[in-house]
Amino acid sequence: MSPRIVRTVAELRAALAPHRASSIGFVPTMGALHEGHLSLLRAARDENAVVVLSIFVNPTQFGEAADLDAYPRTEASDVALAGGAGTDLIFAPSEGEMYPAGFATTVSVGGAITGTLEGALRGRSHFDGVATVVSKLLLAVQPDRAYFGAKDAQQVVVVRRMVADLGIPVEIITCPTSRDADGLARSSRNTRLSPTERELAAAIPRSLRASRDAFASGIRDPRRLAATVREHLAAAELEPEYVEVVDADSLEPIAQVEGPALLALAVRVGPVRLIDNVVLVPGVTDPLPLAPTDRSHP
Ligand code: PAF
Repeated sequence: MSPRIVRTVAELRAALAPHRASSIGFVPTMGALHEGHLSLLRAARDENAVVVLSIFVNPTQFGEAADLDAYPRTEASDVALAGGAGTDLIFAPSEGEMYPAGFATTVSVGGAITGTLEGALRGRSHFDGVATVVSKLLLAVQPDRAYFGAKDAQQVVVVRRMVADLGIPVEIITCPTSRDADGLARSSRNTRLSPTERELAAAIPRSLRASRDAFASGIRDPRRLAATVREHLAAAELEPEYVEVVDADSLEPIAQVEGPALLALAVRVGPVRLIDNVVLVPGVTDPLPLAPTDRSHP
């Protein structure tokens, strides 16, 4: 059945009012749905009585206007795909509904978790935009559970911190990164890669796999693990913006991998900036998939 679409917070609240006694699962997205989003929706469908999807291309989290303009907007096919994955309700607000005239509040998560990796490259303002819109969406939907993909590992850490700090009553659930057959993490931005660029991009999961294999063979030095990634990217003539191994919870630099560590990278392939990661856990051999399947780490 086709999901119902609502455009305002008032309509959303009215539609959800009869379901407050049952469980509500929520998947926030910027649309251009792909298999990764559908896996989040299916997880929400399995665990909740009602499934809500939001589609909102949030301008405050984009640094470059060109990236915002180029972001794919495919609402009609999104609605069909979301319906197929068991979505009950779609919240697709306008920019004016989310940021009405006079809007003056920013939710800003401080510390290392927003200053490093994507925060260092794109600026903290990216995560200010994410934290602000996610808190507004969580307040509007008031779900029992909200589902995020592990590909955006830092986003998950930031959202978890924000939810804990503000006491927002929701369980944040991290689902494994969804990957194409060649291992490339699914992303709405992948549609902008040419066939040649798409082939080059396959070096990203190869490089993560090589580093994970090095880790499995006993290497615990973050610099050597990152160097393995860089070598594989260089073989495809890809120059990463960063490759870092950090503590998986605090995102602080580490001298040695002794607990769960996040190996994260960002690399431009043609016009597209791609991010990916793998979580390395001492004592855990996880041949495939690259991303964790448990919910305790991003
Ligand atoms: O991951 C995304 O698609 C966005 O950052 C989110 C969580 C929907 C907020 O705009």
